[in-house]
Amino acid sequence: MSILPVVKYPQPILQERSLEVTEITDELKAFIEDMIETMYVTEGVGLAAVQVGELKRIFVVDPTFAGGTEGDPAFVFINPEIIETQGEVKEEEGCLSFPGVFITIKRFAKTTIKAMDLNGNEFTMVGEGILSRAFQHEIDHLNGQLIIDHVGGLKRKLALRRLRED
Ligand code: CO
Repeated sequence: MSILPVVKYPQPILQERSLEVTEITDELKAFIEDMIETMYVTEGVGLAAVQVGELKRIFVVDPTFAGGTEGDPAFVFINPEIIETQGEVKEEEGCLSFPGVFITIKRFAKTTIKAMDLNGNEFTMVGEGILSRAFQHEIDHLNGQLIIDHVGGLKRKLALRRLRED
């Protein structure tokens, strides 16, 4: 396994739309293992493939943010789609591609997603709280949407002023 460099704003790839995964190969599985390793090392709640330079519709989430315990396998979502939402909640949100930047974003309080697992089986998962937020944040990444796209004008300018070079 290896730790991959995280792509930071303003790298243009972050604003591109990721492509559907059509085949789960051993090579892809190894890449996903690297994504998981990278997420743990950088202490992210989740990580999208585009954040390590691959335009594939995949994201991973640290299960300890979803009621799991350390040692549980990371959640892997391939070709994810939001199928149901409920409620709304406003909270501060960060992103590994924007070190130092936090933006208050309104998100659905509860989100159900449908995705494929590493064996190509479809499953659904309901996320509440931070997990619901992570689902929406990571699916945004797969569509080239970033946290700063949720605010305009002065708020965006002020948020970007806190962007750290690291
Ligand atoms: Co992010």
